[in-house]
Amino acid sequence: MPMLPADAHLTWKQARACRSSHEHWLHGVRVVLNDAAWKPYTGWLPYHTANAPFPVGAMVVKPEYDDENCKDLLGYTVMRKEAAGYWPAGSDWSWHDLDAKGVARKSGKLDKACVNCHVQHCAPPNGFDLTCTPD
Ligand code: HEC
Repeated sequence: MPMLPADAHLTWKQARACRSSHEHWLHGVRVVLNDAAWKPYTGWLPYHTANAPFPVGAMVVKPEYDDENCKDLLGYTVMRKEAAGYWPAGSDWSWHDLDAKGVARKSGKLDKACVNCHVQHCAPPNGFDLTCTPD
């Protein structure tokens, strides 16, 4: 069962346009969001002031591409907000590594694969609730 529709990278609202990423070892990345994530995520850009918490069900999705122009989709990394208490060390996000069809390769409380790095790189003022600033 895909966690995302295969065309989510084309149909979901874009919060950050195509750019190259050094952190995820890939050429092109974008950030797209579901409606629940829109206000908290875009609200703190570019002022780094959190004006709304992420509600349960908020999804922050990073489509990852093989090329710098974001044409050739490789897969997605996804953060989905779960109920309070789900995993405080991961800020109650579940973490997902999906293939290009939206099917999970790895999913859940991914500390080594994801959270340890976000705790380091996405701490305030460089991030909000384990999401990162654009730069
Ligand atoms: C080596 C450090 C590192 C690892 C490991 C890592 N990330 Fe990230 N991640 C970052 C940084 C830095 C950013 C922001 C800059 C960027 O997008 O390139 C980011 C951005 C993201 C974003 C875009 C939203 C945002 O603004 O934060 C998502 C979604 C995401 N990561 C999910 C994951 C998931 C899921 C995993 C594990 C499968 C993971 N990351 C592993 C460092 C990392």
